[in-house]
Amino acid sequence: MSERTLHFGADYYPEYWPRERWEVDARLMRDAGMDIVRVGEFAWRVFEPEEGAYDFELFDAAIEVLGRYGIRVMLCTPTAAIPVWVQQRYPDVNVLDVSGRRRSWGARKNWCYSNPTMRRLSRSITDAMAQHYAGHPNVVAWQTDNEFSYSGCVCDHCAAAFRRWLATRYESPEALNRAWGLRFWSMDIHDFDEMMPPLERAHSPAHLLDYRRFQSDQVMAFNREQVETIKAADCAAKVTHNFMTTYSGIDYRELARDLDFVANDMYPRDITRLEDCAYGHDVIRGYNGGPGFWMNELQCGYINRENQLRTPPPGMIRLWTHQAISQGADAIIYFRWRSCTGGCEQFHSGVVQHDGDPVSRSYREIVAIGEEVQRLRSEGVAGSSIENSVAILRSFDVARAMELYYGGRLFDYDAELQRYYRPILRQNVGVDVVHPEDDLSRYRVVFAPLLMLTTPDQIEGLRRYVAEGGVLVTSYRLGAYDLHAVVPTETLPGDSLVELFGVRIHEYDCLMTDAPADPTPLVAWDGETYGTCVWADMLEPTTAEVLARYTNEWYAPFAAVTRNRVGAGQAIYVGAGLDEAFYAHLVPWIVAEAGVSPFLETPEGVVAKVRLVEGQPLCFLLNMTTQEQVVPLPREMHDVLRGCATPPELILSPRDVAVLR
Ligand code: GAL
Repeated sequence: MSERTLHFGADYYPEYWPRERWEVDARLMRDAGMDIVRVGEFAWRVFEPEEGAYDFELFDAAIEVLGRYGIRVMLCTPTAAIPVWVQQRYPDVNVLDVSGRRRSWGARKNWCYSNPTMRRLSRSITDAMAQHYAGHPNVVAWQTDNEFSYSGCVCDHCAAAFRRWLATRYESPEALNRAWGLRFWSMDIHDFDEMMPPLERAHSPAHLLDYRRFQSDQVMAFNREQVETIKAADCAAKVTHNFMTTYSGIDYRELARDLDFVANDMYPRDITRLEDCAYGHDVIRGYNGGPGFWMNELQCGYINRENQLRTPPPGMIRLWTHQAISQGADAIIYFRWRSCTGGCEQFHSGVVQHDGDPVSRSYREIVAIGEEVQRLRSEGVAGSSIENSVAILRSFDVARAMELYYGGRLFDYDAELQRYYRPILRQNVGVDVVHPEDDLSRYRVVFAPLLMLTTPDQIEGLRRYVAEGGVLVTSYRLGAYDLHAVVPTETLPGDSLVELFGVRIHEYDCLMTDAPADPTPLVAWDGETYGTCVWADMLEPTTAEVLARYTNEWYAPFAAVTRNRVGAGQAIYVGAGLDEAFYAHLVPWIVAEAGVSPFLETPEGVVAKVRLVEGQPLCFLLNMTTQEQVVPLPREMHDVLRGCATPPELILSPRDVAVLR
């Protein structure tokens, strides 16, 4: 199975193309330095043309041709798209949506994870494939299904399973009523059998949240069955699933526990989103528990969603590729090998275009990237480590709960985290994305903004972290939800957090809604005044010192930013969303005070990322701008991609990359 090497390849659909073409494709892949393709995730009808009749001939033949050119495969279970026989024989496998509409055959992801027939069919096809391919020398790894997501199904199977799920979690209907606050609008139940899936848009947030948790557990069970079936046939099999970065519909942290490694899909679209991509890679490395995640789908040309999007300019795919590797990817697999002629993704670029001609720019660029990947392989990038002393704390439960209020969004959680993330990234300080339950002791600073939903255990972990010398930074709405997305009755942020942060909150203002004539709070800090946005908590210090105050209107007596010293550490509360310039000032100050220094000084828009190969830094310099940039280097290094010693000043052309040892 998968040995430690930097994999390079594409998502390949041999079933779409005439067999005579496979050999041409395999040769072009080899010439581009590729060693892997992902296959099969939408080929259920090929693998099982009719129920119980399996046919592996097509993929056997394709895998054989690919193998002759040194290309091995990641094999996917094909359950994402159901063949027509499934739907016609078992029409109730399809999702019943909240409007009462039964989804139909066609498209994909239109079936229900709770449906017992679907579960049986999934186990059967997975078992047949796993038995057939067990121990196959050219199968490197497996992917379960494709991009699991929240189905939104409310069918009778889901309703019954939801009731059972609740009955194992809540002692009695009364306990559930209390935990969810169901007296509101007469929603309390007397019997678990009275409980239904939430069909109304503005349902109780607690109900919506637990329904998401329940549906996520159904996906976990579905995935686990496939993983266990594959491993029962081949105990050495390595199994992954392709995540959608910051998606909050199912619990990725939990999913990751059932996988050998995490894989991700990313469609960066344009250069303006490179900092979002950086954030996404760090989120995924967090789920993976460190570097070594795979990019199972990386954009390699124009893509289509509802319409066709822009073609990436020259150099863009190279930049995306090195960015992913620099942040911990050990495999780059482009979506897709060749643009397909039919289907709703017919205007979605491949490495080669519809005509399959290798003269296309995308193919030529990827051949050049393949040569660089070969150099990185020789440097031993795969399996190398990343060590950071700053972290962003991202709670999956907060991410999920923020998406469920009144059928809409309470706060944009990732946007709030990114206010802190961007200045760290721009400073060339490495950052991990961690979860409240992770071990925080190795970090000097942990930024934990918008930690709205917490549990007593999490709070105790944070208290210990600070007492032992950590610097913890939070922002508005701390502690405003309990585990059930119900508002606690203690004065905010709740007794134990009042003690940790040394502030109490009785008043706040929501700054997201339109009231243009009303004033918004201003905050003065270190000689500058900043505007506010999103939300403002009015902080009343109990034991904390005031770092910044609100300066206008009714906000003026209140503190805006405070610091509480607890044990050997500090707990900093930033009460509001503030102008970008504020974070550009505050975050580097906190990081520097904690004794963390940037790896390298670079001009604005050039990001330095470090992977440690046997303890020695391998530094990726990524020019995220469309201008030439000059990077002064502190000493001579070896330029891995160009194969020479570095000059005192390294010149990076627009979107250029350098890797220095
Ligand atoms: C992904 C999906 C692929 C393909 C791609 C198009 O989300 O996994 O199968 O649809 O999007 O961009």
